Amino acid sequence: MSRDENRLHLAVQKSGRLSDQSRQLLKDAGLKLLQGGRNELAARAENFPLDLMLVRDDDIPTFVADGVCELGIVGQNVLEEYALGLPEPRIEQVAKLGFGRCSLKIAAPDSLRGFELPMLGGKRIATSYPRLLRRFLETNGLDAEVVAMRGAVELAPRLGIAGFVCDLVSTGATLDANGLAPVADVFDSEAVLVRTMRPIDAAHAEQAQALLTRIDGVIATAESKYIVLNAPEGALPAITHILPGAEAPTVVPLIGRPGHVAVQAVCQESVFWETLERLKAAGASAILVMPIEKMML
Ligand code: PRP
Ligand code: ZN
Repeated sequence: MSRDENRLHLAVQKSGRLSDQSRQLLKDAGLKLLQGGRNELAARAENFPLDLMLVRDDDIPTFVADGVCELGIVGQNVLEEYALGLPEPRIEQVAKLGFGRCSLKIAAPDSLRGFELPMLGGKRIATSYPRLLRRFLETNGLDAEVVAMRGAVELAPRLGIAGFVCDLVSTGATLDANGLAPVADVFDSEAVLVRTMRPIDAAHAEQAQALLTRIDGVIATAESKYIVLNAPEGALPAITHILPGAEAPTVVPLIGRPGHVAVQAVCQESVFWETLERLKAAGASAILVMPIEKMML
């Protein structure tokens, strides 16, 4: 499939920690993705002028910076590592996506006791994120040697290449399996939607904005709930205060129950059982919490 100038191009990780959820996000945004073969490097959306470019996560910033892809979904870890190597920004972060959370950590062999940051002084640290690590070391006034590796960083201590590693941790299973334990946090990351800073023509910009609006809706919907409840009018201030992230609830009179109203609100934060208990204690009854399927803000 060659590059179609009339369509948007979105770079996503072909396979890895972000790929499934990136695709799910696009599906939730209403895109029907045509399933390419295993070795396809692109996948077309059937009902939106968008082609997915399926690439290695480390290549995503380059594609977006060069404008080969107007958009991309990438981890902040990969994005920031790339950005630190540029004289000026070429990629703009447009939305945090709420998945792919992980964190870049310095780790040491399990046997190390009583770690303190100054212990890194003069030591070798193996990492695939040399720029992020160097920034951390500079910020903390530490003089350590950064050993850049493309992968298999967690093997470095056993191979005698470095005393410490600085690698991504999500579940922690990889560190565990290699007899390593985290000792310091370098950078927290999640998946983000990014946009090229190269000028794009009006048609592409409009398509990108439409996609972004849908994605914003999906992100907002994930946490949001629609709450309906009855309450005595006097309890309204207390109830409005308890409703999490609800602006300007709708209040309607209840026929046949003077002094009582029905309250309807979109809550943009999680609604827990405790929230319901507090609402009830404040005088609410007949409380309904409903999922919101779609939302456009
Ligand atoms: C990272 C890291 C570890 C693993 C840690 O690799 O290098 O191998 O994830 O995850 P865990 O804490 O859940 O065990 P990543 O998946 O980002 O692959 P890549 O560096 O090849 O892109
Ligand atoms: Zn990678």
